[in-house]
Amino acid sequence: MAFIKPKSLIGLDIGSHSIKVVELKHQKKRYDLKNFGVAQLPPEAIVDGVIMDSSIVAESIRNLFANLKIKAKNVATSVAGHSLIVKKIPLPLMTEEELEEQIQWEAEQYIPFEIDEVNIDFQILGPLPQEEGQMEVLLVAVKKDIISDYTAVIAEAGLSAMVVDVDSFAAENLFEVCYPEKIDKPTVLIDIGAGIININILKNGVSAFTRDITMGGSTFTEEIQKELGLSYEEAEILKLGGSSDQASAEEVSNILSGVTDNVVLEIQRSLDFYSATTSEEEFQGVFLAGGGCMVPGLAMAVEERLGIPTQILHAFKGLGISPKDFDPDYLEAMGPVAAVAAGLALRRTDER
Ligand SMILES: Nc1ncnc2c1ncn2[C@@H]1O[C@H](COP(=O)(O)OP(=O)(O)OP(=O)(O)O)[C@@H](O)[C@H]1O
Ligand SMILES: [Mg+2]
Repeated sequence: MAFIKPKSLIGLDIGSHSIKVVELKHQKKRYDLKNFGVAQLPPEAIVDGVIMDSSIVAESIRNLFANLKIKAKNVATSVAGHSLIVKKIPLPLMTEEELEEQIQWEAEQYIPFEIDEVNIDFQILGPLPQEEGQMEVLLVAVKKDIISDYTAVIAEAGLSAMVVDVDSFAAENLFEVCYPEKIDKPTVLIDIGAGIININILKNGVSAFTRDITMGGSTFTEEIQKELGLSYEEAEILKLGGSSDQASAEEVSNILSGVTDNVVLEIQRSLDFYSATTSEEEFQGVFLAGGGCMVPGLAMAVEERLGIPTQILHAFKGLGISPKDFDPDYLEAMGPVAAVAAGLALRRTDER
């Protein structure tokens, strides 16, 4: 067999609020940051994870690559949201080859879409100790039209999608690289994006539970908009700490803390559900990612309500960074936002 050198890929996270790009240099024992950038999208470009205006998205990607002077064309991207099913299912013990042949048939009952509308992937997690002859399988199903929409927009930008991953898997990979000392104990990873909060409980570096909540950074913006009778854009500025003669800082802060309470309550419900279905030992910590986690006071509210040490994930921690190329304060601030893109940039072409 010819030896093909695995190629690194550019991590491209196409979120509904912004596009993030991370380029890493894969060294022998570490990763160096080569490039990082973000481009904001108008709220109507991607709605509920569906690309509504592909030319705006393609142009933003193209401009971002041009501004960062990235020459490479091969990217790893990811999908999330309602077009994606990630489930753990029990199946009779069999080999990977056997399951490859049967997965379509086995998966059918677990997927709320027509089986020929989805691409299916799986990972055998291991035998189920409680049930003899059974094993646990991680089933991943993504609607084909979503994959083709994302790969088409990337092609329209002059690039090529070599890998289409899942947001939460990419964040998981990144977490393992940034916080290797934390993977032996159960950890809660929470990505608060614009429209979706993804909760992912990691055990021994593998996802033990995942759940999406249909809330996020835009829930805060919409509440300011509604309460104060402003446009979405005005509300967004106020949320990010900007001032306006239409509202006092105190009014804004009260609205934000009201929404924070609801968000934290929903997160707690998910964790309670998980705890009720497992005899779980304690979580060592909660790590928050996504732009929405930067709402002032949110991390603290999560920590207080859950009673678990909580911190904001810093995606660039543990990477080789040359201070002359990057402003450390900027990277620190963007750490949670870059998590998925950085996780995608860890991928190589030789992976499936
Ligand atoms: N400093 C900040 N303080 C508060 N909110 C912020 C801050 N920076 C970004 N946000 C909010 O974070 C959200 C965007 O986060 P992110 O970029 O992670 O979302 P996305 O990945 O584009 O969306 P999704 O994953 O839901 O498709 C927006 O609602 C934005 O207003
Ligand atoms: Mg996101």
